[in-house]
Amino acid sequence: MLQDTMADKKKPLSPTGKKNRHVKAWMQQHVNDHWVHEAQRLGYRSRAAFKLAELAEKDKLFRPGISVVDLGSAPGSWSQLLHERLGRAARIVALDLAPMDPIPGVRFLQADFREPEGLEALADVLEGRKVDLVVSDLAPNLSGVESADQARSVHLGELALEFAVQWLQPGGNLVVKAFQGEGFDEFQRTMQIHFGKVYVRKPKASRDRSREVYLVGKGFTALSPPDDRKSDKTPSGSASGARGR
Ligand SMILES: C[S@@+](CC[C@H](N)C(=O)[O-])C[C@H]1O[C@@H](n2cnc3c(N)ncnc32)[C@H](O)[C@@H]1O
Repeated sequence: MLQDTMADKKKPLSPTGKKNRHVKAWMQQHVNDHWVHEAQRLGYRSRAAFKLAELAEKDKLFRPGISVVDLGSAPGSWSQLLHERLGRAARIVALDLAPMDPIPGVRFLQADFREPEGLEALADVLEGRKVDLVVSDLAPNLSGVESADQARSVHLGELALEFAVQWLQPGGNLVVKAFQGEGFDEFQRTMQIHFGKVYVRKPKASRDRSREVYLVGKGFTALSPPDDRKSDKTPSGSASGARGR
């Protein structure tokens, strides 16, 4: 520590300097460890729980007894939080490609959300009853090819929006993970067609260096948009069309 201090005196730090990068990396690791420890301490399966908790508090997304669909739910920290915060009367349906250990009060479906079977399985469980909240933390396995990963992420977001448009009650809310980059602005505009308000949120537990953000759509309008609000990507004015691409 003393050595560091002396070194600092000899060499003033430039904001872009190597030392600054080390400090930033150390800070980032420290923040990550904090959320990981907190998740372990409180019994959550992943630090992701804190992202949803922050969004829910800020945007008042939770009410006891509401019905929720949790897309991309494994390992299950969002479902754990939902069960904990919404009480016994809540209806919580979760879906993931990967298996998920059971959570009391959560109906889990293991299926691919991109496939018709995934949607059919959800429709069967929902039995035609619309929901109050859709949360999607869906994220593709990263290939390392940035443009391909970005396109896959946007596609999953579009599918989640399409699902929400079909299954949300009027006034319902949507939380969807998105990555800033190609296609993000258009996706946000499409969301604005369907919700009274759309917020871009970066929860504290989301890594600073990641382009991950969450779009929160509040107040599903359930109306066909007038012609002048249609987005370029959805000429029909609905979010439909993402599936099958
Ligand atoms: C970031 S993790 C979700 C973490 C979760 N919210 C939690 O709190 O534990 C993203 C999840 O999306 C799932 N996923 C990705 N593509 C999917 C697809 N096509 N269908 C279903 N799940 C998918 C992955 O299997 C992964 O479990």
